[in-house]
Amino acid sequence: MGIPLQIVILGASGDLTARKLVPALLSLAGRCTEPFRLVGVARRPLSHEAFRAQLRAELPEEDRQAFDGFAERVHYLQGDAGEDLTPLGHQLEALPGGAGAGRLFYLALKPGLFLPAMENLARGGLLAQENGAPWRRVVIEKPFGHDLASARALNRTLQSLLREDQIFRIDHYLGKETVQNLFAFRFNNTIFEPLWNRQHIELVQITVAEELGVERGRAGYYDAVGAMRDMVQNHMLQLLALIAMEPPSSLRPETIRDQKVAVLKSLRIPSGDACVRGRYTAGNVGGQAVQGYLEEEGVPAGSTTETFVALRAELENWRWAGVPFLLRHGKRLPKRFTEVKVQFRVPPIQLSDAPGTEVLADGLACALRPNQLTLSLQPRETVSLGFGVKAPGPGMTMVPAQLAFDYKDRFGGQTAPAYERLLLDAMNGDPTLFLRNDEVEAAWAAVDAIPGQPVRDYAAGTWGPPEADRLFHGCEGGWSHG
Ligand code: BG6
Repeated sequence: MGIPLQIVILGASGDLTARKLVPALLSLAGRCTEPFRLVGVARRPLSHEAFRAQLRAELPEEDRQAFDGFAERVHYLQGDAGEDLTPLGHQLEALPGGAGAGRLFYLALKPGLFLPAMENLARGGLLAQENGAPWRRVVIEKPFGHDLASARALNRTLQSLLREDQIFRIDHYLGKETVQNLFAFRFNNTIFEPLWNRQHIELVQITVAEELGVERGRAGYYDAVGAMRDMVQNHMLQLLALIAMEPPSSLRPETIRDQKVAVLKSLRIPSGDACVRGRYTAGNVGGQAVQGYLEEEGVPAGSTTETFVALRAELENWRWAGVPFLLRHGKRLPKRFTEVKVQFRVPPIQLSDAPGTEVLADGLACALRPNQLTLSLQPRETVSLGFGVKAPGPGMTMVPAQLAFDYKDRFGGQTAPAYERLLLDAMNGDPTLFLRNDEVEAAWAAVDAIPGQPVRDYAAGTWGPPEADRLFHGCEGGWSHG
């Protein structure tokens, strides 16, 4: 990295700091050649020691010992990101490297504070990056705006204060190894590329299923956004972009992001009934009785916020025209899993015996799809390819078989947490895994265009409202259960 580094977390008392950011920094600290300093800024009056002690207590158990060796590099400043931040400048000057250090400002703030915080950082001279001066970068957490208009306004203000290459809009899904592998897998294996289009792919489905409901203390945030803005607009559209993008001509960040933007701009949700929204009622998840969304602490009476979304989308481009992309996300579903399933077309004629077909309720006989490529992103980290084999015996009866790869068999354990990679990239100034201004806006434009829908109840521990099953047509099959 070359020069000393100072990392500032604005909104350091929130749970993101202890749950994700500091564990990631601890892991990076062991690998960085330049020891970095961390300054937490929050409103409560605390000494450096009291902040360190509080942080230590909130860290995951397994990180506490490593924190003891790091604690002296952690500092605190009582401050309100919405007010004058000159004292922060003074504190940073006094730390090793002073004004000569590279500075990363992490905005772990409520969205309403993004702009005031940026303006105060700018007013305090903290963002200035004159020619030859050390770098200044800002990482902005989601939600980036509430709709296209607010995202545009936020982008405009940011760009009046910073250059685009100083702005790192984070989507933590892009930091996951298995998500990066969607890109790597597609563009480093030629065997799939000739098939990766509407001629050979019948349908793609993407699921992000959670067992969790709205966690304690989150209802205020969640009720204002809902499942569509919390997960679909950002994480799920990123998965879709990676699966559907054209090959970039190089690994340059702009080349890759250009292709993702092109996908997002071609996204269409064709009609009103191609989107289903739901909200969980009381039920049972993983053997535990759980309450309904409306009973969760902090959810306002009469809320109409959705906790489930299923969509049937299309991409209006040469490669994908006519191929449905089915997206589903919900809280309080029976099982936690994130998965992309690519369903290839059936052979043009069916030569094998009857077990290769199923009869639908309306009497239609459908051939089963033997060829599916399943990329399981979490908690299982696997890639599997389904195909049919002839069952031994005199007939020509096909049965399903699989080729499978599991990260843990090849690499051991779980892959590194997303924030670790993203913080490292932000420190190194690599924006590839962060969202560009036009990318965020294209995702909002697609989501804003989805017609409003009634919110249908589903019992916690079920797969969402039955209407979501009807997004599959005819013989296309149904939603994966992970
Ligand atoms: C966050 C959402 O961005 O992603 C949460 O705000 C959601 O509601 C979380 O639970 C899911 O992330 P992961 O990495 O656990 O799949």
